[in-house]
Amino acid sequence: GADEALDILAKTFVDPGTCALVASPTYSMYRISVELLDGRIIEVARRPDFSDNVEALIEQCKRPEARMVFLCSPNNPTGNLSKREDVVRLLETVECAVVVDEAYAEFAGESLVDLTGKYENLIIVRTFSKAFGMAGVRIGYMVAHPETIRLLSKARPPNSVSTISLTLAKLALENRDEILPKIEEIKRERERLAGRLAELPNVEVYPSQANFILARFEQADKVYSELLKRGMVLRRVSGPLLENCLRITVLDRKANDRLITSLKEVLGVKS
Ligand SMILES: Cc1ncc(COP(=O)(O)O)c(C=O)c1O
Repeated sequence: GADEALDILAKTFVDPGTCALVASPTYSMYRISVELLDGRIIEVARRPDFSDNVEALIEQCKRPEARMVFLCSPNNPTGNLSKREDVVRLLETVECAVVVDEAYAEFAGESLVDLTGKYENLIIVRTFSKAFGMAGVRIGYMVAHPETIRLLSKARPPNSVSTISLTLAKLALENRDEILPKIEEIKRERERLAGRLAELPNVEVYPSQANFILARFEQADKVYSELLKRGMVLRRVSGPLLENCLRITVLDRKANDRLITSLKEVLGVKS
């Protein structure tokens, strides 16, 4: 899957004493794959609206030991996209590899894959785990300039992808026409659910381009445990900028309505 791509990237670019940057908060595996190879992670805080702080990233990339920058777009768990002009500025300014993890890109309908022909230091990571719902099949891939792919191939285990998984991925691509409407439905439901969440008192909802929504509550722990009692599992998140936030996966209309009804109960809203 995409996690193996992260391992290949770390094997390619990280040595003891080097470092990689992450626009944080973000997906936790960047840190794990870099630290496994004795590299150091430098967290560059996102802005309060969770956008990338490009100036700070550029500044940190000036360190001679910087090898790689991880951006996640849409970002897990905040849901926002990296701005195209920000990524281009980064690509044109820094010397190190710029990784854009587009695990959730199908839900955004936007991608930076087209920039890989122009920028050798850009690597896009994608997966069949999210929009295709095939996490158990373990298929991910990277898109980059041919020269960069040649470099990454040296660190790629030759037999890690089974023929069964490849066959399933091929089947998914052949049946895209059935899967695409489901992605569209999730995108529509995401906007509807975000609207309904925003109507609740003391709930701050962050705009999302993924299949989840980040929301801030007054007492996230209470909301989490009360929903758990009702059989609903939200994702707890922690760390700077994420205090009292929960990540909510967008489901079908009925399940989303059930969540809103339960949230109203928990938050004491009379309906
Ligand atoms: C941002 C991001 N990248 C990569 C992955 C890993 O995907 P895969 O199942 O393809 O290893 C995930 C899964 O949670 C993710 O959220």
